[in-house]
Amino acid sequence: MGYVLRVRFAAFFAGAAIASAGGLYLLRKDYQTAHHSMSQQMNDVYESLNGRISELERLKEVERLKEVDAAKHVEATDYSDALEKSILFFEGQRSGKLHVNQRLTWRGDSDLSNGSGYHVDLLGGYYDAEDNVKFGLPMAFTTTLLAWSVIEFGSFMHNQLDNAKDALCWSTYYLLKAATTSPNTLYVQVGDPVQDHRCWERPEDMDMPRNVYQVSPQKPGSDVAAETAAALAAASIVFKDSDPSYSSKLLHPAQEVFDFADKYRGRYNDSLSSVVCSFYCSYSGYNDELLWGGSWLHRASQDSSYLSYIQSNGQTMGANDDDYSFSWDDKRPGTKNVLSKDFLEKSTQEFQAYKVHSDNYICSLIPGSPSFQAQYTPSSSFLLLTYAKYLRSNRGAVPCGSSRFPAEKLVELAKKQVDYILGDNPARISYMVGFGQKFQSLNSGSPNPNVLVGAIVGGPDSRDNFEDDRNNYQQSEPDTYINAPLVGALAFLSAESTA
Ligand SMILES: *[C@@H]1O[C@H](CO)[C@@H](O)[C@H](O)[C@H]1NC(C)=O
Ligand SMILES: *[C@@H]1O[C@H](CO)[C@@H](O)[C@H](O)[C@H]1NC(C)=O
Repeated sequence: MGYVLRVRFAAFFAGAAIASAGGLYLLRKDYQTAHHSMSQQMNDVYESLNGRISELERLKEVERLKEVDAAKHVEATDYSDALEKSILFFEGQRSGKLHVNQRLTWRGDSDLSNGSGYHVDLLGGYYDAEDNVKFGLPMAFTTTLLAWSVIEFGSFMHNQLDNAKDALCWSTYYLLKAATTSPNTLYVQVGDPVQDHRCWERPEDMDMPRNVYQVSPQKPGSDVAAETAAALAAASIVFKDSDPSYSSKLLHPAQEVFDFADKYRGRYNDSLSSVVCSFYCSYSGYNDELLWGGSWLHRASQDSSYLSYIQSNGQTMGANDDDYSFSWDDKRPGTKNVLSKDFLEKSTQEFQAYKVHSDNYICSLIPGSPSFQAQYTPSSSFLLLTYAKYLRSNRGAVPCGSSRFPAEKLVELAKKQVDYILGDNPARISYMVGFGQKFQSLNSGSPNPNVLVGAIVGGPDSRDNFEDDRNNYQQSEPDTYINAPLVGALAFLSAESTA
């Protein structure tokens, strides 16, 4: 299994199903042409046939509209249901010794070997996808997005807030150990992906050696270290009020691991080549993570040194690049979004350029705007919603060419994307396991003993085609960093649609 950038969610706004009416129209046209040469005697027969065709067309149209209607209205309760499932999914990905309150009970304790032979406690954390490797870079990115979801939209989560915080804690518990167990060392991976991917088995049954990988001053990894800093910093904001002592327990290591990332610069795949490439190779390098990590520390600590860091390094670290993909590899659009908040809400002038480039990113998602690119993913929906929230705070709008789009436009677009995932798509299939009447199953051959409720799959190709086949991992493999931003988006939509 490889981990190329995921197939994007396809353009969902493309034409509704008009094919059915089309066939009948041609049939009637042929008949009408022939009609003139028909004997008067036949006329009545055709009149009645014509009437029946029209009736058939009418009925077909009614059916079509009913279907469109049924799929279109995702209710507030549905968003709440999807929210609950999107969080539940994380329990299926848990590694280590499970808690008594584990709700997905088919998952058992796993990977208790504890980095044996390495004498380091790395119990816990998440398996990344359908394999049994704990990959540090995407796990940290997942954690950052989960924390960001709670920071912006936790107030809409109601009875799911504690579950979301638990999901977050499950990875900060691991990341803290990974970052603080040994000085000047960050543990970045447990499990050899090449060996792991040779065999498909449940983590409970694993018996292969659990290799542990690390970065250090001699073998640096600024990308994975700065992402870990971002994750711990963002999580510290989540717990600031509810658990101040845990919050500061997260913030201090976040600052240390950031210093480590900044001081010993390098791509982690230059240190760990074969076990991270071609899985989570750092294609975009580490500058994007350094600026992202610095931005989260700026928000979490309010320490002016991070503002200075951003000011002195922003230019060289991509502040002025326009970039249209926000992913586990490339953080640039996310950083611009995070820093725009300060510009929009607190008029921090130093961040004006980030607002401008954030606008450019948003324009790339709006059909009809000059730079439209339609790269839809749950993380782009999430950025639309956080940006809408920041814009609302000062009644701002996004300028794209000669048009200006208000926050409502961004919300509408994000809602469409999320609805697409939940079943409002040409195939009328829900891409969330266990949600809706008809959802993809991850296995079309034999029954699934363990249904990974809440998992979002990679999604259809650009022509809305989807093949429900485990071997087609690009389309059917779920991943923690796909669900994490959806947690925030679903919380927002569940509140917005009851309002
Ligand atoms: C894991 O390692 C820690 C620290 O060395 C130790 O306290 C703990 O008992 C170990 N757990 C298991 C299940 O081996
Ligand atoms: C690390 O990744 C970059 C980007 O893909 C690549 O250019 C570089 O060769 C990789 N390093 C190693 C040692 O594979």
